[in-house]
Amino acid sequence: MCGIVAYIGHREAYPVILKGLKRLEYRGYDSAGVALLDETGLNVYKKKGKVAEMEDSLIGKALPAKIGIGHTRWATHGEPSDRNAHPHLSASGKLAMIHNGIIENYAQLKKELVSKGYHFNSDTDTEVLLNFIEDIWLNNHCPLEEAVRIALKRVVGAYVIVLLNSEDPDTLIAARKGSPLVIGIGKNEHFLASDASPIIEYTKEVVYVNDYELAILRPDELILKNLGNEKITPYIQKLDLELSAIEKGGYDHFMLKEIFEQPQTIYDCLRGRLDADKGTIVMRGVENHLEQLMNANRIIMVACGTSWHAGLVAEYVFEELCRIPVEVEYASEFRYRNPVIHKGDIIMAISQSGETADTLVAIEKAKEQGAFIFGVLNVVGSSIARASHSGAYTHAGPEIGVASTKAFTAQLTVLMMVALKIAAAKGTISQEKYIHLLNELHEVPEKVEIALELNDRIKEIAAKYADTHDVLYLGRGYNFPVALEGALKLKEISYIHAEGYPAAEMKHGPIALVDETLPVIFVATKDSYHEKIVSNIQEIKARKGKVIAIVTEGDEMISSLADDTIELPAADEIIAPIISVIPLQLLAYYIGVYKGLDVDKPRNLAKSVTVE
Ligand code: AGP
Repeated sequence: MCGIVAYIGHREAYPVILKGLKRLEYRGYDSAGVALLDETGLNVYKKKGKVAEMEDSLIGKALPAKIGIGHTRWATHGEPSDRNAHPHLSASGKLAMIHNGIIENYAQLKKELVSKGYHFNSDTDTEVLLNFIEDIWLNNHCPLEEAVRIALKRVVGAYVIVLLNSEDPDTLIAARKGSPLVIGIGKNEHFLASDASPIIEYTKEVVYVNDYELAILRPDELILKNLGNEKITPYIQKLDLELSAIEKGGYDHFMLKEIFEQPQTIYDCLRGRLDADKGTIVMRGVENHLEQLMNANRIIMVACGTSWHAGLVAEYVFEELCRIPVEVEYASEFRYRNPVIHKGDIIMAISQSGETADTLVAIEKAKEQGAFIFGVLNVVGSSIARASHSGAYTHAGPEIGVASTKAFTAQLTVLMMVALKIAAAKGTISQEKYIHLLNELHEVPEKVEIALELNDRIKEIAAKYADTHDVLYLGRGYNFPVALEGALKLKEISYIHAEGYPAAEMKHGPIALVDETLPVIFVATKDSYHEKIVSNIQEIKARKGKVIAIVTEGDEMISSLADDTIELPAADEIIAPIISVIPLQLLAYYIGVYKGLDVDKPRNLAKSVTVE
């Protein structure tokens, strides 16, 4: 949920940290701070607000340090404020620390420290952990890394911490459990960050730190240990991420860039897996467990937000193609109730970040009851990836915009390939249908390209409805989850209240909302529900509702009824959601822009919700 960056080496630390924090603001932007150690001592600069505000407050200051730590925060314990901003200083003033995660037993630790006379300047769990470490360090007269190890053995919760010790200016100490941490390896310099984006312009050699590991970094030395003080050989990997993949690439916002990346990202998702010429789909994560997947008594999709909507589309796809019962669960509900999990159950954990706390804990609990976990994830090496028995990456590249777009269509693409492989193995679909759908998937990048050409048309429609206060999104069958996703996009980007419903559900109450002020968006591409949804549109028109219809090109019937129509290329109804969501993403984006909102960093949100 928070972004951390640290540096030790021959460069000036502050510029490296500052630029890195800006690249991590998608993880949270309630407050920002840096701690720098130079011959004047340990100096901490931090304040509520975005990184740029901290930067402004430091203009003109000489910041010559070669070692430092930085943090951009999404508040969990303690409201966004200067005093709750990281880095925190220990009681002695000798230590500074940044933290990403939640210390669940911090209240107990705080009680013990208060009884020893400690006072706290903030409401954060981080400051408690920092003083807990210092208390051990000073009383045991042990090396700081030993104090960290002892302290972390008592900690319950998730953390990445990085410590700066004013008495040891050549060393950074970091540790991780449940939150992401990457080490960048340079020449006589080392970098630490929550992901690779702050590191990549300096080095492509990285080490992903695992849970319960401790890193001791010096300019020319990297030591990795477990909490049992045993040395671990670092596994150095080469990054294949390009910096350009991170920058906005000429678009006004990351969200628009990522919407327009979708032909490529869907192609990347298919590449090396789906071969239309051979009529094959190769997915090692499926093949290695095909028996188990084929014989599943039940598949439970577990996810949050947009990823949950992908799971909802997958419910229709898997039940239709594989004839396996599917349930779709909000991870936050699933993890707290006592779900009945059977040995033959497959849990599909769907997550862009791979760090969503509710999803991570939900699958850990299901695993304890014998479930097989299949992860559909976008971040390689993420916590949920490591907690899964198998899975498939969506290969959508870094998704910086808080609103998930390209990750969603990549999730659908992966899930459809998995369903096709299982159905083909089970024989629940004919070879002809298998080849038909495989070719339909193959054509998706091109059809999404065509859908994106509607950009200007959608921009006009957005201008027409940008001032509305409520919107309904309606769909049936495979397009019902797309209606939910369209509503979520509008809510989180434009702050306009929007609801998605099954179109047929309107007559059970919600149709009372309809009058001439209410825009109703129908996701109504040609499918087996078509004549039904025409009736639903007529019901809305009869009550003077404004109808915006997403249709298959050439649909005269609906076009004659709707106030505004967006025509998409024809596609099989099973595949259609990957394409029909595109205009809804653009519509939400342009309405948000018309309203002058920060569409990449909407209020109250963060890209990865790594707290409960
Ligand atoms: C979607 O636009 C939101 N950003 C949010 O609902 C997101 O999908 C949800 O938090 C799940 O995130 P994940 O896919 O990284 O697990």
